[in-house]
Amino acid sequence: MKKQNLVVVGGGSTYTIGMIMSLVAEKEQFPLKSITFYDTNAERQEKIAKASEIILREKYPELENFSYTTNKEEALTDADFVFVQIRTGGLAMREQDEQIPLRHGAVGQETCGPGGMAYGLRSIGDMIDLVNDIRHFSPNAWILNYTNPAAIVAEALRREFPDDKKLLNICDMPAAIMVSYAGILGKDVFDLVPEYFGLNHFGWFTSILDKDGVDHTDTIKRAITEDGFIPEDAEIANDPSWIKTFKQVEQMVTDFPEYLPNTYLQYYLYPSQMVEKEEPDNTRARQVINGREKRVHSLADQIIADDTTENVELEVDIHGRYMIRVAASMAYNNGDIFIVMVENNGTIANLPDDAMVEVPSVITNRGPKPFSVGYISTFYKGLIEGQLAYEKLVVDAYYENSYEKALQALTLNRTVIDAPRARKILDDMIDANKNYWPELHASKQALN
Ligand code: G6P
Ligand code: MN
Repeated sequence: MKKQNLVVVGGGSTYTIGMIMSLVAEKEQFPLKSITFYDTNAERQEKIAKASEIILREKYPELENFSYTTNKEEALTDADFVFVQIRTGGLAMREQDEQIPLRHGAVGQETCGPGGMAYGLRSIGDMIDLVNDIRHFSPNAWILNYTNPAAIVAEALRREFPDDKKLLNICDMPAAIMVSYAGILGKDVFDLVPEYFGLNHFGWFTSILDKDGVDHTDTIKRAITEDGFIPEDAEIANDPSWIKTFKQVEQMVTDFPEYLPNTYLQYYLYPSQMVEKEEPDNTRARQVINGREKRVHSLADQIIADDTTENVELEVDIHGRYMIRVAASMAYNNGDIFIVMVENNGTIANLPDDAMVEVPSVITNRGPKPFSVGYISTFYKGLIEGQLAYEKLVVDAYYENSYEKALQALTLNRTVIDAPRARKILDDMIDANKNYWPELHASKQALN
C-alpha cells in the first residue's frame, strides 16, 4: 500500500488530538508517510502539535515525518490528502452566532438558522482562498472538508470550483448517530449500511441494514421509543448537551415515525422548545470553551510536561475515523459506502440538480458515486426545499453583497419565519461580523 502524505488544516483544533488517535488506530487501513499541521494561529497550533508529536513518537514510530507550520507553501506542497477543519472567527464568534438570534427569540445554533448564515458568510471567503492555495501547491491532492456550516460551504465551493473532482465535503453527524444504532444492535458501526437522504444537518435515515442485507430499522425505532436514545461515541457520550440532543430523537421518532431523523432536525421541528431550554449566557460555544477546549488543552499540557502519553487516557472518536475511512476508500479504491455531500443531479429525483445533497455514496479513487434515492414524499420535500432555498440565498447574498437576499434567507428559515424578526437579527449580525462578512447592500429597487 502506498503511504500517504497528509496535511491537517486547522492543526490547532480541539478535534486534532482525536484525529491523531484515529490515524494511529487506522494505520493499517490508511498508512501514512508524513503528517503536517497547518494553522493561521501559531500559538494555538503549537500546543496541540507538541502533544501530537509525542503521541506519534510513541504510537506511530513508522511515520517518517511530522511537522507543523503557519507557512502555506511549506504546509501544502506535495500533499496527497488535505483534511480541512477551520473555524473562521473561532469560538468567540460562535458564541455571537448563538446569542444574537436568542436575543430575538429565535434558535441560536452554530449551523442552523441565523447562526448558520452568520458562520457561512464568515467561512466562504476563507474556504475559497484555502482551496485555491491547496490547488496551487498540490493540484492533485484529495481535499476532505469538515468545515461548517457544511451545507453552505459546500454550495459555495460547488459554485466556485465546479470542475474540481477531488474536493469532498463531509459531516460526521450521520456516522455519530450510527454509532448509537450500532450500540443498540451490538454491532460495529462500519458493519452497518445506511440508506439516507437530505441536506447536511437536515436528513433522514430511511433504513439501516447490515452487511448481510438484514434490515434493522424497526428494531432501532422500537429501541429508541421504548428505551431512549443516547450518544455513544467517546467524544460526545458524556456531554450533557449531546445527551439532551439525542433524547430529543425519541420525540422526533414518536411524532414522525416514518424515518429516523438526523439530530439537527430538532432545531427546525421544535424551535420554540429549543429556544426555551437555552441559557443565553451559557450557549454551546461557552460550554465548549469551558468543556472540550479546556479538557483538550490540559491533556496536551500534561503530555508535553510528562514527555509521554503514559499518564493520560486517549480516545479514538468517530469524527476522525470517519474521515480516515473515507480517505482510505479513495486512496485504495475500496468502494466502501459513506454518507457524503454531492451535487444532486437526479439522485433525489424531485429536487433540483444543482442542490448539494447528503446521501450514501460508493467512494472510489474516482470520488463519490451516489446511490439513487428516487422520489421523496411531500413532508420531506417541503422541508428540504425551504432549507435549500435558505442555503442558496445565503450564498447568493455572499456573491451579490445583497442585504435583501440575506433577509430573504432568514425570513424563510423555519427557525425565524417572521420578517421583522429576521431584519433585527440580520442587523445585529452585520454589526457583530463587520470584520468578517462581505459588505451587504440594499438592492437598487429597495423602496425609501
Ligand atoms: C457534530 C456536527 C458538526 C458540529 C459538531 C458540534 O459533529 O456534525 O458539524 O460542528 O457536532 O459539536 P459541539 O460539541 O462543538 O457542539
Ligand atoms: Mn456536521
